Amino acid sequence: MNNLLLTNIKQLIGITENSNTVKKGKTQGEVQVLDNAYLVIRNGIIQDFGPMSECPSTELTHHDCSQKLVMPMYVDSHTHLVFANSRGDEMKMRLHGKSYQEIADAGGGILNSAKKLHDMSEQQLYDDAHLRLEQVIKSGTGAIEIKSGYGLNIEDEMKMLRVIRVLKQLSPIPIKSTFLGAHAVPEEFKNNKAAYMYLVCNEMLPRIAGENLADFIDIFCETGYFDLDDLKQIIEVGDKYGIKAKVHVNQFNSFGAVQLACTHGALSVDHLEVMKEEDYIALEQSNTLATALPLCSLFLDIPYTPGKDLIKRNIPLAIASDFNPGSAPSSNLNLAFGLACSQMKLTPEEAFNALTYNAAFAMEVQDEVGSIQIGKKANLIITKPANGLEDIPYWFGESLISSVIV
Ligand code: NIG
Ligand code: FE
Repeated sequence: MNNLLLTNIKQLIGITENSNTVKKGKTQGEVQVLDNAYLVIRNGIIQDFGPMSECPSTELTHHDCSQKLVMPMYVDSHTHLVFANSRGDEMKMRLHGKSYQEIADAGGGILNSAKKLHDMSEQQLYDDAHLRLEQVIKSGTGAIEIKSGYGLNIEDEMKMLRVIRVLKQLSPIPIKSTFLGAHAVPEEFKNNKAAYMYLVCNEMLPRIAGENLADFIDIFCETGYFDLDDLKQIIEVGDKYGIKAKVHVNQFNSFGAVQLACTHGALSVDHLEVMKEEDYIALEQSNTLATALPLCSLFLDIPYTPGKDLIKRNIPLAIASDFNPGSAPSSNLNLAFGLACSQMKLTPEEAFNALTYNAAFAMEVQDEVGSIQIGKKANLIITKPANGLEDIPYWFGESLISSVIV
C-alpha cells in the first residue's frame, strides 16, 4: 500500500529518531512505544506519526488499527533462501542416530544441496525461491539477506547470485546478497582445500565482484570445513574488493575465529552457539555485531547462543533465521522471537531490537528499515488484537500477524 493513514493504533512499537548507532547493553532493551497513535504512509515511506489527538485530516485511505499493535517488519540478516532441495531425509537419519557431521561425511549436507542445485535450472531455482520469499514476507520479514554457497563452483555460485539479483529487482523488500563460496570443500578438492580457496579468492570473487553480484562475503569457519587461515584470506580478499564479511563461526567449536573476524573488522559474526571468554573479549573490543540463530539451535538441538550474556557484556545482538534446508528449515521469525525469550531468556524488548533494529545494521539497511522512523520504508506488521509486544513471544509457534504492509 503506497499511501495510507493508519488510525487508532493501540501501540506503535519501535520508534526511533535516528539510526546512527546499534543498540547494546541497556539500550538493547529499550523500545520506544506510542499509545493510541496514527501513522501516515506516502509513497511507501513513513511520512508522519503521532498521538491520535493530533491525527491530521487527509484524503488518504484510512485503516483502523483499534486494539492492534503496529511495528516494523523483522529484518532477516542471515538466510540461505535460495536452494534446490529439501533434506528431510537427513533429519530422519539424525533421528536414527547419525550426527550432522556423519551425514555430511556420507555425502549429505551442504554437498548434497550443491549437487541438487547443479542439476536444477536457473529458472526453476528462481521460481522456488520467489515462492519462498513471498511466504517469508507474509510471515513478517521486511528485509532479507540471502547467501550463495550451494554452488561451490564458479558457474553454480554465479547462478545462485543471479537468482538473488532477480529477486532483488522484483521484490518489494530490500535484499542483500552474500557470496559464500567457502561453505564446504567440494568432493574434487577433498584433499586440496588450498586449491579450492585459491579458486574462491582469485577466480570466483573477482568475477562476482566484477558483475556486482555480492554485497557481502561469508565463510563457514568450522572444524572439518574451513580454518582460521581460510577465514583470514576471505576477509582480506573481501577488503580488496570493498566487500565486508559476515561469517559463520563458533557453531560447534570455538578456536579463535571470533577474535580473527573481530580484529579484521567483520560486520557480523553469526551462530556463536559455543563461546569462550576470549570470544566475548574480542567482541567487546570491536564494532562487530553478534548474530544468534535460534531456529538452527532448535532444529539441530544444539545450544542456544548465550544472548543474555552478550547483552550483559555490552555486545550488540541481532537475531536471524538461518533459513536453509539442512540446519534450519524455517524462516519463521515469530517463532525465533518466542525462542529468544523462552530459551535465550531475552526480554521481549531485547529480542525485538535484535530482530529488527540491530538486524538492519547486520545487513546495512538501517537507513531504510528496522524501526518506525520518518523517512524509512513503511514495511510494517499489523498484529491481531493484542495487549503488548510480549504477546508475540508468548504465543510462540503461532502468528499474531493480521497483515503486513510492504
Ligand atoms: O548456517 N553452518 C553452515 N551453513 C548452514 C547450514 C547449511 C546446510 O546444512 O545446508 C548454517 O547452519
Ligand atoms: Fe547459515
